[in-house]
Amino acid sequence: VSSGPFLTEEKQIMEVHHVDLTISAVAEEQYPKTDYPEIALVGRSNVGKSSLTNVLINRKNFAHTSSQPGKTQTLNFYNVEDQLFFVDVPGYGYAKVSKKQREKFGKMIETYLTTRPQLKGVIELVDARHAPSDDDVAMYQWLKYYQVPLLVVGTKIDKVKPSARTKSISQITKTLGLTDTPLQLFSAETKFGKDEVWQWIEARMHDQK
Ligand code: GTP
Ligand code: MG
Repeated sequence: VSSGPFLTEEKQIMEVHHVDLTISAVAEEQYPKTDYPEIALVGRSNVGKSSLTNVLINRKNFAHTSSQPGKTQTLNFYNVEDQLFFVDVPGYGYAKVSKKQREKFGKMIETYLTTRPQLKGVIELVDARHAPSDDDVAMYQWLKYYQVPLLVVGTKIDKVKPSARTKSISQITKTLGLTDTPLQLFSAETKFGKDEVWQWIEARMHDQK
């Protein structure tokens, strides 16, 4: 296994120096024409997708975060070191977005997640403070159905007392019905879990399929 120029020797974690937002796409024709592997981030609005992206790329607010849900409304392709793209997907489960708009996002997300050859893996974020919602379960089952390589990230773990973390893991495992899908706890505040998430991404980047 070659570590490549941007990987550190021991840990195989990419050191990110260069990132740019290549495109905020609203239609398929706008997706990058590169063959770089792509990793998509999905999850409820406000769960922390943009925050996770920022931690992975070592930036404070490169992917815009907001306490106002529904902020990200396009497929945002972040080019990382000309080696991969993170694709920030609009959050689901946000009531104030109109039904028509939601259907439009839904179609765009569905097409992207089911037909994009560059897509090597999906990270589904859930809020580790609560049991996953019906939307989280539906998204998980849908991704399983399409056999997309999947990592579940239980985020905002800094808000969960250390003594309650085992319960948080079992709650996510049980509600989603996780069997062979990996689960990683994470915090954008403390960066807990960052290396583990990167390791999973690195492995997907080098998957042969
Ligand atoms: P949309 O773009 O609306 O879909 O939201 P998003 O999933 O990108 O969420 P975003 O990263 O914007 O985070 C939403 C809010 O949660 C912000 O106020 C973040 O600061 C906060 N947040 C995100 N991750 C964490 C975390 O790990 N811990 C804590 N305490 N807060 C977090
Ligand atoms: Mg966002």
